[in-house]
Amino acid sequence: MSKTVVITGASRGIGLSFSQLYQERGYVVYAACRNTSSELAALGVNVIEGVDVSKPEGIMCLVAALEGIEIDLLINNAGILRNEVLGNIDQTTIRQQFETNALAPLLVTESLIGNLSAQAKVAFITSRMGSVTDNSSGGRYGYRMSKAALNIAAVSMAHDLKPKGIAVAILHPGLVGTDMIGGVGDITPDQAADRLSQRIDQLNLSNTGTFWHSNGEVLPW
Ligand SMILES: NC(=O)c1ccc[n+]([C@@H]2O[C@H](COP(=O)([O-])OP(=O)(O)OC[C@H]3O[C@@H](n4cnc5c(N)ncnc54)[C@H](OP(=O)(O)O)[C@@H]3O)[C@@H](O)[C@H]2O)c1
Repeated sequence: MSKTVVITGASRGIGLSFSQLYQERGYVVYAACRNTSSELAALGVNVIEGVDVSKPEGIMCLVAALEGIEIDLLINNAGILRNEVLGNIDQTTIRQQFETNALAPLLVTESLIGNLSAQAKVAFITSRMGSVTDNSSGGRYGYRMSKAALNIAAVSMAHDLKPKGIAVAILHPGLVGTDMIGGVGDITPDQAADRLSQRIDQLNLSNTGTFWHSNGEVLPW
């Protein structure tokens, strides 16, 4: 029987590449997004629109669409990057990033726990910008704070889900040429999705809770 994957933020960027990759690997793909895109529609996967992960009604929409469906892999990918400069801190953008990047993945995962199959996997697409050790340049307050918060929540979920047989990966994609960073990166979204999927393949209950770079390096907190 085919495996199922649910991907948030699937309209473009890495989420779109994940959707294509897992479709090519024979998964039944549920691609969640706020609004579909022509690229996502062209894939022919199951598109679930109306899923703004930062809003309760968006998560309810996802839960309703997946009622009765067993999920083998959940990829919490949706995210936003804003910029704040010390001396002119914008609380609004910090809250938006916290809600989308940290709180939403926790709430989405909690809402779908009942759908997760035995031996399911949950992936959180984070950033090394949430690493304290790796912060050698400062700035990006809201993004760094939100991804650090996501990382600690994901570690708690790794502990809490382990007794259920569910493994959790905390994954940094690399510098990827998506809209988020102006389209110029070290790797393409397709390459990122491919590398990230290798880490997801590698994920098991012994290494659950690991913070990986997509290239396989284990990152410091
Ligand atoms: N690109 C990089 O170099 C890089 C590096 C480290 C980590 N990451 C992480 O990788 C993930 C994917 O980023 P990306 O580079 O692919 O960025 P992207 O091209 O900007 O795509 C972001 C995706 O997230 C969706 N999204 C944003 N806010 C959402 C919300 N409230 N509800 C539902 N969907 C929402 C967007 O949907 P809309 O089309 O509706 O806006 C879009 O599909 C993010 O978590 C990001 O933090 C990226």
